[in-house]
Amino acid sequence: MIIKRMTQMGILLGVFAIIGTAILAITHEQTKERIAENERNVLLRNLHAVVTPDSHDNELFTDTIEVTDAKLLGSKKPVTVYRARLNGKPVAAIFSAIAPDGYNGNIKLLVAIKADGTLSGVRVIGHRETPGLGDYIEAERSDWITKFTGLSLIQPDERGWRVKRDGGNFDQFTGATITPRAVVKAVYHCLQYFRQHQQDIFG
Ligand SMILES: Cc1cc2nc3c(=O)[nH]c(=O)nc-3n(C[C@H](O)[C@H](O)[C@H](O)COP(=O)(O)O)c2cc1C
Repeated sequence: MIIKRMTQMGILLGVFAIIGTAILAITHEQTKERIAENERNVLLRNLHAVVTPDSHDNELFTDTIEVTDAKLLGSKKPVTVYRARLNGKPVAAIFSAIAPDGYNGNIKLLVAIKADGTLSGVRVIGHRETPGLGDYIEAERSDWITKFTGLSLIQPDERGWRVKRDGGNFDQFTGATITPRAVVKAVYHCLQYFRQHQQDIFG
């Protein structure tokens, strides 16, 4: 009698365990999909902050290439380049470049360069700089990052591509020069990479 009862309890426990595991697996799968979709939407919003939606008619997420240049793109790993085109013609290349020498390590950027070599826009999409000191690079915190739009390798010239503390054109932040210095350098390097590889990028 006792053995029969214990067997029944064991089976019941097993059934609950299976149902519980199934519910967990389904919830995990749904959450994973939702997180991936949210990340995609955030990235698309950032891409469209540097290249307006009406300036291109292709799918940015699928028109990509991976390129590697540790010195000019800030990472030994491949970085993604999103290509914007209108009627098949190149509009802009958006580099997911890295500024490696931020105060607290890597600063992740989106650097959009138009086919004519001018900057369409720059945005910071990830960093660990100090709140209240280095985070003025975020578009939400100040308009500093928007000052890159329209600039190129010739406007300003090479000497201008530095923070004012180093004799260049770009403002630093009060008590925080390292962060803006890193971003200015990374954007300049990205422009150099684009000049060297433009044909391959849109090929
Ligand atoms: C706790 C702490 C956090 C800091 N965070 C940053 C930062 O995020 N970005 C930055 O450029 N400087 C930061 N600094 C300041 C740098 O150490 C450095 O002094 C400064 O960038 C140099 O700029 P300045 O020449 O305008 O003083 C921080 C300093 C301290 C003590």
